[in-house]
Amino acid sequence: MSKLDPINIVRLSPDSDHVPTVASWTYAEWGHLNPGYTAESWCEAFRRECGIAGVPSVFVAMEGDQPVGTAALMARDMDSRHELTPWLASVFVLPEWRGQGIASTLIRRVEEEASACGTTQFYLFTPDQQALYRRLGWHDHEELSYRGEEVTIMQRRLAE
Ligand SMILES: CC(C)(COP(=O)(O)OP(=O)(O)OC[C@H]1O[C@@H](n2cnc3c(N)ncnc32)[C@H](O)[C@@H]1OP(=O)(O)O)[C@@H](O)C(=O)NCCC(=O)NCCS
Repeated sequence: MSKLDPINIVRLSPDSDHVPTVASWTYAEWGHLNPGYTAESWCEAFRRECGIAGVPSVFVAMEGDQPVGTAALMARDMDSRHELTPWLASVFVLPEWRGQGIASTLIRRVEEEASACGTTQFYLFTPDQQALYRRLGWHDHEELSYRGEEVTIMQRRLAE
């Protein structure tokens, strides 16, 4: 894929060879917030999020046969807010592919998936990417301290 080509978004299946690669990105980014995991147990937990439809689902943006970004729809993403579900989670794009709309396209794909399974509102939390999500129609829901970071829970309402 050149930077001008459309982004190819595909569902990540649990038996895909790409699961360890994509899980390694999210472990490097967020593993420190979940000290109970090893790289291996994180990968297996990530694999279990690769459902066939609805919640849970994981999507990847592909450059040819290589994944360059990911986003997921998960039942839970925050220990202290089990009453909120589902969640947009694990939004990540490789550094060299950022700034060209890949995360936005992945987020739209997760929104479509949530909508298709009857979700009318869902959530995410972020320490520093509020502006990106606000541009995509998400609203601030709550500010709180979570695992040593100040974060915003954001909510997206979807058409019924
Ligand atoms: C946050 C993250 C996912 C954004 O990924 P991305 O693919 O660069 O996101 P997008 O391209 O959709 O949007 C990001 C920016 O690119 C701009 N952009 C979107 N499409 C563009 C295009 N076609 N050409 C140029 N710029 C574009 C957006 O306006 C936005 O601008 P900003 O720099 O003012 O925020 C990425 O930086 C990342 O993986 N960071 C580390 C993990 C992380 O923080 N994840 C979020 C957890 S809540």
